[in-house]
Amino acid sequence: CGIVGVVGSANATDILMQGLEKLEYRGYDSAGIFVAKAGGQSNLVKSVGRIADLQAKIGDAVAGDAGIGHTRWATHGKPTENNAHPHTSMSERFVLVHNGVIENFKEIQEEYLKNDTFYGQTDTEIAVHLIAKFVEEEKLELLEAFKKALNIIKGSYAFALMDAENPEVIYVAKNKSPLLIGLGDGYNMVCSDAMAMIRETSEFMEIHDKELVVLTKDSVSVTDYAGKAIDRKSYTAELDLSDIGKGTYPFYMLKEIDEQPTVMRHLISEYADENGAMKVDADIIKAIQASDRIYIIAAGTSYNAGFGAKQMLEDLTNTPVELGVASEWGYGMPLLSQKPFFIFLSQSGETADSRQVLVKTNELGLPSLTVTNVPGSTLSREATYTMLIGAGPEIAVASTKAYTGQIATLAFLAKAVGEAEGNEKAKAFDLVTELSLVAQSIEASLSEKEAIANIVKERLLETRNAFYIGRKQDYYVAMEASLKLKEISYVQCEGFAAGELKHGTISLIEKDTPVIALISNNPEVAAHTRGNVMETVSRGAAAIVIAEEGVAREDDDIVVNAVHPYLSAISMVIPTQLIAYETSLQRGLDVDKPRNLAKAVTVE
Ligand code: G6P
Repeated sequence: CGIVGVVGSANATDILMQGLEKLEYRGYDSAGIFVAKAGGQSNLVKSVGRIADLQAKIGDAVAGDAGIGHTRWATHGKPTENNAHPHTSMSERFVLVHNGVIENFKEIQEEYLKNDTFYGQTDTEIAVHLIAKFVEEEKLELLEAFKKALNIIKGSYAFALMDAENPEVIYVAKNKSPLLIGLGDGYNMVCSDAMAMIRETSEFMEIHDKELVVLTKDSVSVTDYAGKAIDRKSYTAELDLSDIGKGTYPFYMLKEIDEQPTVMRHLISEYADENGAMKVDADIIKAIQASDRIYIIAAGTSYNAGFGAKQMLEDLTNTPVELGVASEWGYGMPLLSQKPFFIFLSQSGETADSRQVLVKTNELGLPSLTVTNVPGSTLSREATYTMLIGAGPEIAVASTKAYTGQIATLAFLAKAVGEAEGNEKAKAFDLVTELSLVAQSIEASLSEKEAIANIVKERLLETRNAFYIGRKQDYYVAMEASLKLKEISYVQCEGFAAGELKHGTISLIEKDTPVIALISNNPEVAAHTRGNVMETVSRGAAAIVIAEEGVAREDDDIVVNAVHPYLSAISMVIPTQLIAYETSLQRGLDVDKPRNLAKAVTVE
């Protein structure tokens, strides 16, 4: 979910709506705003669906100088208007937006709010009723009531709270969920993400967990929950608004797919000097050298990117690499090695599941590195070290350039550590040249859009299910390729180790079931995968072969230019991104905003 608030601007509605549009990547099943005029009337408007639906409902009628808004990714309660934020107290005087999950909402309802009636099923409604109760029944000042509630509420939250009778103040608090303050000239803002405020300001202030902020048009006061003042400096963020337009592209996803050669070249300039020597922070190298195992923690596409880099990292650093699904590891670590080093892979740097693991590694005093696309993001701030992907904002929900950028960034890390270790393979790996070749290979694949559109039209348009198969590195790419197809085209697709299919899942193959084989330039593996393709074709499958030069045959559907084997997860994924894009497009779906998903999931 995304939160935005502003106090002290005559354009409050416009600022909130612009902000919500930029925050839509965090969820888009419903949205709402509350806008008020000092000493005057206030309006609460909510709508199911996209920000555009909310905008249509608002028209020009809603104006004010302060307000709060929210775009939702449903957790508690279905995406209905009643469950949409902002939520209000029974008197409708207090208004609250929330991102996160209140764990003890049931207990709170039982203990304090037995006689209240609720419109919806959200944990947020309970929170605002609780605050209202402390004001209306116990006669506390609103700030005191909020503090009291915060000391009762358990879980993750970013809150922005207003009093319709005194709309000159926004009360803000956070725990685990991201939130920051934007400082304007004569007005102040609060928001889940700096990007959503950069049209208004480039001056920001962090809020840490369990801090409370009182915001007026010309003041910002930060305290802890006991009321102790905290001195927080603001900072200037250099973000570029032009980065977030989609130009002439019909969808962000296509723009972002096309940007990948640039991302590769940018990484070369970022992490290598003009002589090809690595420019990676010496402290990170030392910390990895001192470790006996690398643990990569991530979710979704970033998790798949971790697999794409695993073999290379192990070969070049001589260190075993273990992957962990963030949402699983949050419950407790498996038995760790003596000297673990953690890498958090995260496009957004905000994924709550990953953060939960980072909090634990920090408690254990373990060194960590966040590899992220978002400077200043929560995971970046809280890990020991950061390496930036520098891919530019990724807006489409389905991640593309961040996946390839993550693998490339890890390549620089692997080589730098390997060289420091005196690893011969690392010394021999001419990463700058190899990555330039990758950029060229990507460009070549991008010129195959029409051919890919035809393959999709003939073989993927009608199907309900499909398979990606591959061995070794190709298997990891198959995992990512199938996730991409699933998430934006709704084709049920499995990424399978090619040799494993025959041990059960092959029973799903029917006439014309698409089986897409990934065959990179490893002759031994290639021969085996081709054998597996034949097994599925004998059972009626419609095979599509994506093969790398060197092992490609004339009748293969797509041929990918050869690259270094360590980097094949980058080049081989490109046609699969285009397949997913085309399938979604040809099915008439919203490519950038698939149903049920959010770009950054900030709840556990
Ligand atoms: C969400 C997105 C996925 C993404 C995952 C991890 O579920 O829909 O596309 O891969 O989060 O995000 P992160 O920002 O941590 O890489």
